[in-house]
Amino acid sequence: MAKKIVILNGSPRKAGNTSSLTAAFAEGAKAAGNEVTEFHLAGMSIRGCLGCWGGGKDETCPCVQKDDMQQIYPVYKEADVVVLASPLYYWFISGFLKNAFDRLFAVAECDPNYRNPVKESVLIMAAEGSGFEESEHWYDHL
Ligand SMILES: Cc1cc2nc3c(=O)[nH]c(=O)nc-3n(C[C@H](O)[C@H](O)[C@H](O)COP(=O)(O)O)c2cc1C
Repeated sequence: MAKKIVILNGSPRKAGNTSSLTAAFAEGAKAAGNEVTEFHLAGMSIRGCLGCWGGGKDETCPCVQKDDMQQIYPVYKEADVVVLASPLYYWFISGFLKNAFDRLFAVAECDPNYRNPVKESVLIMAAEGSGFEESEHWYDHL
C-alpha cells in the first residue's frame, strides 16, 4: 500500500551528503509508489520550542508560535512514515533537526498523555567518520 512519507532534512547544505542520501531514499520510495515530501529545515524560519506548555489546542496548527512549522504540521499529521535526516554534528543530530523535532511536542500536547502519533520512522545520517551512538540512543527513545 502506498504510504505518505515526510522527510525532515536537518542539513544546512542543500546539495550535501545528507541530501544525497535523502534524494536516493526519495527516489526509491517514489518508484515504489509512495508519496514523499521533504522539508529542508535550514531554509525555513523555525524558532526554538518555548517550553510554554501552551500548545495542543488546535490539531492543524498546534503550536502557539506561528512560523514555518505551520507548513510541516499538516504534512506530519498525514504522514505514515517520518524520516529524520541529519549530518552528524559533534556526535549528534544538527540543531536544525533538533529544533524542528522539539516543536513537534506541540502535536504531543494534543494528546492527554503527551504522546505523538505512532508512525513508522527512519533515521538517515551523514558523517565524516563514525560515532552515531548518541543519535541512535535518542532515536531509540523516540
Ligand atoms: C559542526 C560540525 C560538526 C561535525 N561533527 C562531526 C562528528 O562529530 N563526527 C563526524 O564523523 N563528522 C562530523 N562532522 C562532519 C559531517 O557530519 C559530515 O561532513 C557530513 O557528511 C556533512 O553532511 P552534509 O553534507 O549534509 O552537510 C561535523 C561537521 C560539522 C560542520
